[in-house]
Amino acid sequence: MAKAKEAELGSNRDSTPIKRESSSTSALRWILAVLVAASLTSVLHKADFLARLRHYCASGPVMNLPNQYILCSAEGETSVYTVDEANAVKQCVGVDSGFVVSTGDLRTVQHGRNWRVYRIPPGAMVVPGLSDSHCHILEHGAARQIPFGDATSVEESVEMVASYILANPDVERNRSEAIVSWGWDHESWSAPKYPTAADLELNPISRGRRVILQSKDGHAIWVSKAILDAYAPYPDTVEGGVIMRDSSGSPTGVFFDSAQNLIEMPSISGEELSRRLHMAARDALALGLTSLHDAGFKPESMEAFKREVEAHGKLPVRVYAMTHFDEYASYWTNGTEMLHGMGDKERFSARSLKIFADGALRTSGAALYEPYSDDPGNRGQMRLSGEALQSVVNRFAKAGWQVNVHAIGDRANGLVLDAFESVLREDNKVDARETRPRLEHAQVMAEADFERIGRLGVIASVQPTHVISDMPFAEDRLGTKRVKGLYAFRSILSSGARITLGTDFPVESMDPMKTFYAAVTRRAFNVPEGEGWYPEQRLTRTEALRGLTIDPAYASFTESVLGSLESGKHADWVILSKDIMKVDMNEVLITKVLATALDGEIVFGGL
Ligand SMILES: *[C@@H]1O[C@H](CO)[C@@H](O)[C@H](O)[C@H]1NC(C)=O
Ligand SMILES: *[C@@H]1O[C@H](CO)[C@@H](O)[C@H](O)[C@H]1NC(C)=O
Repeated sequence: MAKAKEAELGSNRDSTPIKRESSSTSALRWILAVLVAASLTSVLHKADFLARLRHYCASGPVMNLPNQYILCSAEGETSVYTVDEANAVKQCVGVDSGFVVSTGDLRTVQHGRNWRVYRIPPGAMVVPGLSDSHCHILEHGAARQIPFGDATSVEESVEMVASYILANPDVERNRSEAIVSWGWDHESWSAPKYPTAADLELNPISRGRRVILQSKDGHAIWVSKAILDAYAPYPDTVEGGVIMRDSSGSPTGVFFDSAQNLIEMPSISGEELSRRLHMAARDALALGLTSLHDAGFKPESMEAFKREVEAHGKLPVRVYAMTHFDEYASYWTNGTEMLHGMGDKERFSARSLKIFADGALRTSGAALYEPYSDDPGNRGQMRLSGEALQSVVNRFAKAGWQVNVHAIGDRANGLVLDAFESVLREDNKVDARETRPRLEHAQVMAEADFERIGRLGVIASVQPTHVISDMPFAEDRLGTKRVKGLYAFRSILSSGARITLGTDFPVESMDPMKTFYAAVTRRAFNVPEGEGWYPEQRLTRTEALRGLTIDPAYASFTESVLGSLESGKHADWVILSKDIMKVDMNEVLITKVLATALDGEIVFGGL
């Protein structure tokens, strides 16, 4: 059983495509490296290091704009995409004190205003600030704190842990502080074998420290000797999990799946949570993302974000939080208050609830009506029964919460729609427009459910880059007929439902250009032409742009103040180096963010 499980984990890992990073993300990573390199011999070659540092500096310091200004297309071009109701494209946008006050040609916007005019470079475009509708902010920050993605060996990975310790005095000083991070992938090392607790003892800096490192796919943890000893002894077998052992039978320090629960996750310090938040916000702004919908706020995340608002008056990026409902904890059911636009500039809201209906497709945990095509005894599992779902959805929707349910398999999506349908019954006085229930992922849908999602006014929150990750194995798992209901974005839209786009980062890359490309082409990143995977489900460029701007605004109750460049809205805007509505789709993947503004102020790049 253990062997079979391990084989399954192995094959899952093989089908994980290698995810690349945008150059701006890796450039930012180098800010951390600068700090580290100052204090120790870097694991990286100096020349390479300096080249990357220059690349970062080339993007220039953030510039300050006056309070009132006009931002225009290049001379003779029209490339300010407002994403208003008519998808109008204008020449210029006027900004006053953080708000859009006018759009149109220069004369119209200038009318009576003697404001400075800034022009974007030829061929570039302006779009409203982009959103990611389903992501994990602190987890991304955790993954970025230690850049395991760059490691080519276990030794390098351990050196990165050591660098992290040295770069953070609060961690270095306090030996009982645990080091918790995410993202190692032994498959990407030159000698791909599982790491061990002993590896962490070989480096004098990491030796003796409490270290817990989650694998990139989330299915394993690698711990240090101090942690391994603290939770010993271990059971011989674990239902649904595997403890990795050496030839004498002793645990080596890697735990798979439910065996991970044998190790208790330590609480993370406030300083570390704040570092994670800022790291993720910087990456997001550098990629043109101004609004993030976090799909799993735990109580400690809520505290960390609130502390940040209290300390600085506002967050560095807009955050719309889905508070995680845990079937075992009562925290969110105990009259937790909804948060509406906390702090200066109203950047932080938490008024939705996140529930898990089932597991994931990759690990055959998604709940299906019929068994998996490649695993005839298995239909996956619901994490909550249909009745439990009904009761939770009912309770929270009636109390005015937006209810967002993770649903992957067709059975999970069907049962969630049953729950939404029962709460949205007319005699219940719960209005879909007022509560805007969301299906998070809406991955595999049964034919009959497409009609319901539209009729009920449910929002589908989907992740187009998952299409690219899953297309190598999806048909084997679901069969030729059922696979047609997987990532069926066109069918969802045709039903009249709204779609909103995200990435689930750090599971996928944060880069919204990849999301745009995947939604419009349904082609792997290294395949420059062809119709794509189930091309009838592709989105148009306009639908994809709306799915990254105004639709997420609607999905977070902010469409009257965000999501488009229209008079009266917050001036969140992004300059992209190419016009992604016109260039060849392959050029979308090399499009750069030249500047990002939040509330009218440049927070990344410059003009
Ligand atoms: C050291 O870390 C531990 C574990 O996080 C914490 O309980 C303790 O308060 C810290 N000590 C100091 C001096 O910060
Ligand atoms: C929830 O409320 C109950 C009853 O008021 C209380 O006993 C319990 O401690 C609360 N739980 C949390 C996590 O706040």
